[in-house]
Amino acid sequence: MNSPSHTKLPITPRDCSSDYSAWSSYFRLVGLAWHFKYRLLLSLFFSLIIAASFGAMLVSVGTIIRITFYEAPAAIEESAASPADPAVKLAKDVAGINDTMRRMIGWAPSSLPDRVLSLSYGMRENKMKAVTFASGLALFLTILMSSARFLQEYLAGSIGTHVTTGLGEAMYANLMKQSVGFFERKSSGEVLARFTNDIFMVNSGLQGVFVKLMREPIKVLVFLAVALHVDWQLTLIGIGVLPLVLYLLISIGKKMRNSVKRSLQKIAGLATVVNETIKGIAIVKSFTMEEYEIGRVKAEIGRLRKFLLRMITLHAATGPLTEFTLVLGIIGFVLVSGHRVETGYLDAGDLVQLYFALAMMLDPVRKLSDVNNMIQTSIASADRCFEFIDMVPDILESSDAETLPALTDTIRFENVTFSYDGSKNALDGIDIEIKCGEMIALVGASGSGKSTFVKLLPRFYDPTGGRITFDGKDIRNATFQSLREQISYVTQENILFAESIRSNIAFGRDCYTDARVREAATAAHADLFIDDLPEGFDTIIGESGSSLSGGQRQRLAIARAIIKDPALLILDEATSSLDTESERLIQEALDQFVKGRTTIVIAHRLSTIQQADRIVVLDEGKIIEQGSLEELLALNGAYKRLHDTQFNFSKGEQ
Ligand SMILES: Nc1ncnc2c1ncn2[C@@H]1O[C@H](COP(=O)(O)OP(=O)(O)OP(=O)(O)O)[C@@H](O)[C@H]1O
Ligand SMILES: [Mg+2]
Repeated sequence: MNSPSHTKLPITPRDCSSDYSAWSSYFRLVGLAWHFKYRLLLSLFFSLIIAASFGAMLVSVGTIIRITFYEAPAAIEESAASPADPAVKLAKDVAGINDTMRRMIGWAPSSLPDRVLSLSYGMRENKMKAVTFASGLALFLTILMSSARFLQEYLAGSIGTHVTTGLGEAMYANLMKQSVGFFERKSSGEVLARFTNDIFMVNSGLQGVFVKLMREPIKVLVFLAVALHVDWQLTLIGIGVLPLVLYLLISIGKKMRNSVKRSLQKIAGLATVVNETIKGIAIVKSFTMEEYEIGRVKAEIGRLRKFLLRMITLHAATGPLTEFTLVLGIIGFVLVSGHRVETGYLDAGDLVQLYFALAMMLDPVRKLSDVNNMIQTSIASADRCFEFIDMVPDILESSDAETLPALTDTIRFENVTFSYDGSKNALDGIDIEIKCGEMIALVGASGSGKSTFVKLLPRFYDPTGGRITFDGKDIRNATFQSLREQISYVTQENILFAESIRSNIAFGRDCYTDARVREAATAAHADLFIDDLPEGFDTIIGESGSSLSGGQRQRLAIARAIIKDPALLILDEATSSLDTESERLIQEALDQFVKGRTTIVIAHRLSTIQQADRIVVLDEGKIIEQGSLEELLALNGAYKRLHDTQFNFSKGEQ
């Protein structure tokens, strides 16, 4: 058997468009389930045991009772020889099987028919013993059936679980390959829904499919075999309605898949709205927009409710419709069977057995009718999972990517153009050379392209035109690892994780010792406030660091950048003003750190700008001025105007 928790499913993305044919996801799921073929086969084996014990129970207990309580017609002296005697019938059947065996394998237990007869007569002598034996047999078969059922259900159910958890892992692995742009386009609710709701739906669908699809058809076949053996013509009348049932199920299933698909979309929409509201709760409350948000969620839930109700309707209709059609068949059967008994073709015992076999088929058929709905549910949700597994990232590492050596000389933007939407350029013809060890301050109005400029360096986006080189090498030919390892990027919003302060600074790298983490915290002037926290470096900070102040968050982000000791530091200064003490601490931390290090700062603080070797002024994606602070002030151009407004503003604020 496969070892459950370590099985790695080879779920590979497929090179296909987002157009999924109805069953392709299903076959992919089946293909994945095939990796658990031993479980599948074992589960099939137990299904056979279940069905066989069902069949044995149906045939054997009834036969024993019939043989035991058979009353020979008084007129016939030699009751043993009567062809109507069920014991004689059974012995004849066994003899018939013996003949076949002898023909096929050249051997048969030839004394068996006689033994059957003597056993039967023995039972007739001691009726109480026979009944006890029949009950014992029934008990044994029931225990066998229940144990097999448990094992079958566990094995088959676990396949579904392994397949879905494997899907989740594959989805996340591929999600991590997506570019930053992908995450800026997709709402987090949409992404979350695929990992929670969609996966859950695939799972609950598959569980049922594997458990029932393996067990119920075998049951149907066993009962069918029993029924056909008793009277095949009558049986065919009884099951003549099956094609109609099949047609009904298929058409309901189609509608089901559609509704599931739509409701999954609605759930993702709902997740998006809820997620937005929670993230922006401070704004919602300060604008007293709670009612408005409740209304928005109500509308989303209303749309969802519509499709959920449609699913319920279809689900509710499936059972009764199937049953009704099947019962029609049984009514036909009863009508004809009366005639068969009357003409002496069947005896009452046969009829009862036949009736039971057909009636017992109802249950598995009804369960199978549900299976189709489950299959459709898992297809609809698996479609959405596979869509995430198959997404091709828009920023890819080139197939012959090389390790980028540590930066020693220059970073160059060569006529770089970039557009987010293909129409408006966020960066336009940027040509600039940044020397190793130089500190550049990027300034410009909001929306002028400063953040975009720095996002091209770690390849969050690729230029739409031109190229960026490190020491003359196009960064598109470098491995992600070797490029990004050289860059520390402190973003405009300080991103922290709901973990300990230590892991926020070391960020998943075990190679950093505690001493190194402390050193980085000290360099970022964060050690004082960390030591004041109840558990120091082990303090778990709230989600996104919500339990810390803005300045503290920023210093932690800087400590994280420092510990990496990067060749290139990118700092997108937070625009929100910090208190003077925080600002002083951050400034001191940076002063030390940027000395002799290639640094690009998107500067809002005058102190940062003064320290820069060169100031680059951006306007609508173009570099319009550059030079030292004195040069730009002397130029009396765009920078001077920017400087004056900011400087006056800062002065006014204090
Ligand atoms: N993810 C995005 N998708 C589409 N357009 C974007 C995206 N990010 C930025 N833009 C657009 O690109 C232009 C440049 O944005 P950018 O974020 O680089 O400005 P900025 O100079 O950093 O501004 P700020 O000082 O406000 O941070 C703007 O017009 C902005 O609307
Ligand atoms: Mg910005």
